[in-house]
Amino acid sequence: MMLSFRALQLRGLKLFTAISAVPRSVSTASLSKDPDSLLVNWDQQKGAWSRYHYEWLRDNCTCPSCRHPETGQRILTTMEDWRPDIIQGDTTNERVEIIWKDGHNSQYKHSWLLENSYNHNNIANIKPADTTQRSDLVLWDAEYFKSRQPPSVEYEEYMNSDEGLLKMLRQFRRYGLCFIHNTPASKEATGEAIRRIGPLRNSYYGSVWTMIAGNMAVNSVAYGYKCIPVHTDHVTLEEPPGLMALHCVEYKGEGGETMLLDGFKVAEYIRQDRPDYFAILSQVSIPYQLNYKDGTYEERKVVFPVNHKGEVTDVHLNHDDRQPLDVKAVDEICTASGCDENEAVSKFYEALRYLHNIIYGSQFVYEMTLSPGNVLAVNNRRLLHGRKEFKGYRNLCGTALNQEEWESTLKLLENK
Ligand SMILES: [Fe+2]
Ligand SMILES: [Zn+2]
Repeated sequence: MMLSFRALQLRGLKLFTAISAVPRSVSTASLSKDPDSLLVNWDQQKGAWSRYHYEWLRDNCTCPSCRHPETGQRILTTMEDWRPDIIQGDTTNERVEIIWKDGHNSQYKHSWLLENSYNHNNIANIKPADTTQRSDLVLWDAEYFKSRQPPSVEYEEYMNSDEGLLKMLRQFRRYGLCFIHNTPASKEATGEAIRRIGPLRNSYYGSVWTMIAGNMAVNSVAYGYKCIPVHTDHVTLEEPPGLMALHCVEYKGEGGETMLLDGFKVAEYIRQDRPDYFAILSQVSIPYQLNYKDGTYEERKVVFPVNHKGEVTDVHLNHDDRQPLDVKAVDEICTASGCDENEAVSKFYEALRYLHNIIYGSQFVYEMTLSPGNVLAVNNRRLLHGRKEFKGYRNLCGTALNQEEWESTLKLLENK
């Protein structure tokens, strides 16, 4: 059924047809037209509606002459004063059709409009379930893995089937870690295994590195025997890698257990327990620096940065590379805690000491031993990792991927 809303608007009517309370169905959406925008009423009872500005609609036309049919890239190059001539709702085909003043015809599926709604207006209540949502994540502590096996996949299945790869990536996303069992115990096989997800990240350690304990010729505490407290890696890089793989290919010794901690879990605990400290840890950017061979890397990182919904998006903490607080950090502490400049440094250390006690306590730390054949993939933008003191010989190799590489491969497989 095609309805002309222009005609209705001429009679001074705003049309909101009666809607049955069917969740997640957009077939009953009704339209009304404002001078600058189109209103779509998805579900009156749930108060779910969206406003789409005409210029936004024209700019985002999905037809093949405005968007490349294969890549989906915008190929519309004009930026006219876009105004609609006729707007029609086609409830049978669940779409909206707009004919613009210049004659161009645009069609928008209801599902597309809903997916791309940029209003709050209770839209989340009627959107289809999304497996990439934050609520799908499992935040864990030490207790969680006492009664469960850690997430894992078999190397053969992972390397030779899409199902195996998808199984690995889904678990990696949910828990922030996944083991690949029965991987050949070599540096080459470790690199190959992770290259299956996407191109390896290169860094000052090379794309696949080897770490033989005791080799302090390389300037990093990671090459010693002492305990390495939990931390995230590469805080001095603008975008620290999202997936890091660790594979202990040879081990003869005692101790050296790996410690893992879910930074998202700790962040939520702190948000509840000490919102004042959470404000500091989610707003203040800590200066970091690493000197390596001939290079000096400098960056600032917030421990728990948050997005517009207040969700923690990343976790960054590394005491080895932490630098003195500076003017910018002091300003940020004042903003976060409402204190004055003289109190700022003490406020920060209070929050840091509190965080320190939590992450070095036992409540959140999951301990396990890395062994030849078992590659551990860790989300370095969420989990902290560390290693206990040990004696003997330990040959660890590792590699990394950018966050967007594993996310992209996961999306691709999910949509297959
Ligand atoms: Fe590390
Ligand atoms: Zn178009």
